[in-house]
Amino acid sequence: MTGDPIERKTIVLGVTGSIACYKAADLASKLTQAGASVEVILTAGARQFLTPLTFRSLTHRPVVADLFDPDSELAVQHVALAERAHLVVVAPATANVIAKLAVGLADDALTATILATRAPVMVAPAMDAHMYENPAVQENLQRLRQRGMIIVGPAKGRLASGLYGLGRLVEVELLLGHIRLLLGRNGDLAGRTVVVSAGGTQEPVDPVRVVTNRSSGKMGYALAEAARDRGARAILVTAPTALPDPVGVEAVHVETAVQMREAILRAIAGADVLIMAAAVADYMPVSMAPQKVKKGPETWTLQLTRTPDILKEADGNIIKVGFAAESENLLANARDKLLSKGLHLIVANDITAPESGFGVDTNKVALLERDGGVEELPLMGKYQVAHRILDRVARLLAGRPRAI
Ligand code: CTP
Repeated sequence: MTGDPIERKTIVLGVTGSIACYKAADLASKLTQAGASVEVILTAGARQFLTPLTFRSLTHRPVVADLFDPDSELAVQHVALAERAHLVVVAPATANVIAKLAVGLADDALTATILATRAPVMVAPAMDAHMYENPAVQENLQRLRQRGMIIVGPAKGRLASGLYGLGRLVEVELLLGHIRLLLGRNGDLAGRTVVVSAGGTQEPVDPVRVVTNRSSGKMGYALAEAARDRGARAILVTAPTALPDPVGVEAVHVETAVQMREAILRAIAGADVLIMAAAVADYMPVSMAPQKVKKGPETWTLQLTRTPDILKEADGNIIKVGFAAESENLLANARDKLLSKGLHLIVANDITAPESGFGVDTNKVALLERDGGVEELPLMGKYQVAHRILDRVARLLAGRPRAI
């Protein structure tokens, strides 16, 4: 088990006739890779753009194309499919299918399945901006929302018609975020609040220059997403990164160590867990020059002063998890930090190991608990590492009353 709430779920993916269909192929592929059984239903419109073979090849499952196709084993069993589904996703959803769902038509395999299912239904509209703005479409979407369907998007951007506006199918990564949020809502961290820090703080020298480090923020973002995917309320306090805010995570953007301290101390009041994955600068310039510093002599000395140690300062009845990014004496240094910062768990990270640490998507870490031994994990994706950390956190939380 990876901890990904998509794993082992049956997801019905309804694809309707929009030029954005090609993104549905990517979605089907990513859901399958994440371990879902993906049952694709193509409407007649979708079959004008893509063939059942495309999806069959990606999902390794038969594709339902026609409610009355005698060759399709699933076609006559739409009710069985509706019952087995953990989630139905309609992406892309045309104005036409949205209207059919709004009135409860069941004239094809997709709409019949949706009428018959008790699983949550997610609808990702894609159409021309003027169509999307049409009151008929807006009213239909409102009806779907009132019935509990989850509408994701559309996004703004350039449309196939040449118009610029609202109507694009949202990006696949965003849809995956919504799917994980929904499927994970009753996970083992439901009712808990997890605060995660991420990224490398930036300490200003002058209006254009900063002192910072190589942290990409990927580990912290993966932790916030994994906490969300186990049902937690996830608060991500993040220094600047190139990463988009994860769906369903409360992101608080900061730049400096001092700002991060304030945001973390505020966020942990009422939280159950603090995980400091951020690379907080240990020193900041004594003062920030009000104007850009011009070049002068051959050498220049910048005077720095210590930043607050956020993890040490953070107290209260919370589980504290730290990271120790080390280039030597990994375990000994990590254990020292575990004790001196009053942590329950520390994640030791050898930044000299290949494919591990800053910037990359994988990490090789060891987990050290205050009252336990050392668990060395193999090289894994950061999202998987995040779940292994949260497995420990869930165990540490067992029996503790909720913060709020
Ligand atoms: N940390 C923090 N506040 C700081 C510095 C670090 O909260 N001012 C947190 C980091 O987010 C991490 C842990 O403390 O979870 C250890 O960070 P690290 O930089 O490895 O340790 P330091 O205490 O700064 O020690 P050193 O740099 O000397 O190794």
